Amino acid sequence: MLALGIEGTAHTVGVGIVDGSCRVLANVYGMIKPEKGGIHPREAANHHAEAVVPLLQKALDVAGIGPDAVDIIAFSQGPGLGPCLRTVATAARALALTLRVPIVGVNHCVAHLEIGRGTTECEDPALLYVSGGNTQVIAFSRGRYRVFGETLDIGIGNMLDKFAREAGHGFPGGPVLERAAKESSTLLPLPYSVKGMDVAFSGLLTAAVNRMKKGERFEDLAFSIQETAFAMLCEVTERAMAHLENDEVLLGGGVARNRRLQEMVSRMATDRGARMFVPPGELCIDNGAMIAWTGLLMHRAGVRMSIEDTVVNQRFRTDEVDVVWR
Ligand code: ATP
Ligand code: FE2
Repeated sequence: MLALGIEGTAHTVGVGIVDGSCRVLANVYGMIKPEKGGIHPREAANHHAEAVVPLLQKALDVAGIGPDAVDIIAFSQGPGLGPCLRTVATAARALALTLRVPIVGVNHCVAHLEIGRGTTECEDPALLYVSGGNTQVIAFSRGRYRVFGETLDIGIGNMLDKFAREAGHGFPGGPVLERAAKESSTLLPLPYSVKGMDVAFSGLLTAAVNRMKKGERFEDLAFSIQETAFAMLCEVTERAMAHLENDEVLLGGGVARNRRLQEMVSRMATDRGARMFVPPGELCIDNGAMIAWTGLLMHRAGVRMSIEDTVVNQRFRTDEVDVVWR
């Protein structure tokens, strides 16, 4: 069985094709990079509308198949930016109706977890999902993926991007900070904000920007931001793992590509006799393959949707999904 998945919740529009054993046959994407400032939902949606058809063709070419070989179409139903979600859902509906194949709407956050389970050896992990807009600790419990901890304000990636932007760097800021942090070992005190299972980053961001305006080195600030923010993430992830008696931790989201974060989470896991798993980078960021794979799991478990069921949900919560495939 072959599933084609279309992702488009935010900056990235992606098309992926996977088979029934989670072999990724194609995973192509395009990304809108804001010139300055943040992402504008309407502009991103226009970008996705122009990019999606060429990307569909490219994915089929990469996979070496024709459209008739596709058995189901999956798309990111939420959470995300309304105009982007609607654009991608429209493309998915048109394609499914044209090819006369089933359509499945997929929860984006759940897809980050499932692609990790599909492509690494982990079976029942706690997922630390760290991207631009999202920061959550998710794990399976009583038939659902539940959010055990999350950011109370901005996503960690947004925080890194905003700091880099204040310092005059382009988007994305995460990799810029990772490189700069390697040039420092000076830990400046920054607000460490963990509240129970949750984290908050806006105080840290404000403090770091203020220190920069007072002339502190960018490298020292990059290092200190990473050490402080990543320690917060390790703390809440460890607490969820202890609560669930979980011995696997999976990383997902664009920030999961950060080597220092991987090192810190891996150390935390090893210290408690657990293991860390990281999917390949192209499957950590927003991508169509994770949507295709989750759609395939859902379809195989008997989930069926009519076109009326494919309305997008900007605030689609992780624990709204009935995980019938586990
Ligand atoms: P979502 O819609 O799930 O919130 P997103 O649109 O933010 O996702 P992703 O591709 O998952 O997209 O993540 C992008 C984020 O990852 C950006 O904030 C970027 O700065 C960050 N990032 C990418 N590489 C690194 C890195 N090496 N270190 C830290 N952050 C990184
Ligand atoms: Fe994402």
